[in-house]
Amino acid sequence: MSIDSEILTAMRRAGDAGTSGAELAQKLGVTRAAVWARIEELRALGYEIEASPLHGYRLRNTPDVLHADDLLSRLWRTTKVIGRDIRVFQETTSTNDVAEKLARDDVKEGVVVFAEAQTKGRGRLGRAWLSLQGKGLWFSVLLRPALRPQAATQLTVAAAAAVCRAICSQTGLTASVKWPNDILLGGKKVAGILTELSAELDHIKYVILGIGVNVNLTLTDFPVELRRIGTSIQMEQGRSANRAELAVALIRELDADYARVCDGRFTAVADEWEQCCATLGKSVHVLIGRRTIDGRAESLDEDGALLVRTQHGRLERITGGDVTLAK
Ligand code: BTN
Repeated sequence: MSIDSEILTAMRRAGDAGTSGAELAQKLGVTRAAVWARIEELRALGYEIEASPLHGYRLRNTPDVLHADDLLSRLWRTTKVIGRDIRVFQETTSTNDVAEKLARDDVKEGVVVFAEAQTKGRGRLGRAWLSLQGKGLWFSVLLRPALRPQAATQLTVAAAAAVCRAICSQTGLTASVKWPNDILLGGKKVAGILTELSAELDHIKYVILGIGVNVNLTLTDFPVELRRIGTSIQMEQGRSANRAELAVALIRELDADYARVCDGRFTAVADEWEQCCATLGKSVHVLIGRRTIDGRAESLDEDGALLVRTQHGRLERITGGDVTLAK
């Protein structure tokens, strides 16, 4: 835990009572001047920190920026795997690229990479992902699960359920999932998940879960062609959302579901997923390369694949492609 994380945590815990420079210096094993220098740095980042002889330091407001030490302070080591290491970039090509580099450098699983903006954000099926500066949560999680490659869809399904729960707990809005990776609010896409993996025949080497959440975009932020199908939390709730709080909620939910998948409790995750699913029981049109399948989405199998009953009564197992709800 860095000095900034410790300072932010101590101020959060002290609340209105405040914490003195002397207390902080003693706790952290540094001088009061060093504490003062860190406070000044935090202020320069936009943290409103009140200093008074009576109360010491009090945290009054936090800026709308993603700051790794702040996110770590908010999580305060409460997650098992995901979010014990957090890295924030102002701009990158794609956070999945950064996470992949970390994977190849043998960085421990659970590291989360955020970027305030992506210049080459990507979605499924080769699509681009709009990643405007400071408007959303664009992040990737590196995982090294002991799963067969065929079971990787379990992670996408688990992540989708986790994203729905986090959005719901932070905003009160009801999000739903369109299999496998689209998170919808009011029928429009608010978030997406891009799962990329490196695997041998029988085991996964690593998985990168790339998650994009449109948090504070307005209608005009979207290109015209996306306005009909895309939305943001701000557009749905009529006011902006706190990105840092949502980021922490997402990390907690992802960590909880990752534990369930790793413990072989995917059925519990799938049951929850089904409750927020906008696909099951519906007529769907599936496009896989040039092949199309029309039918009714019946259920998920034990690997997270979608089982679709065709008009001819055959059960098709869908592991990829584009699923749209038939009108
Ligand atoms: C989709 O819906 O097609 C998936 C979108 C995934 C977007 C996220 S943003 C963070 C991470 N980095 C990327 O380049 N893509 C994912």
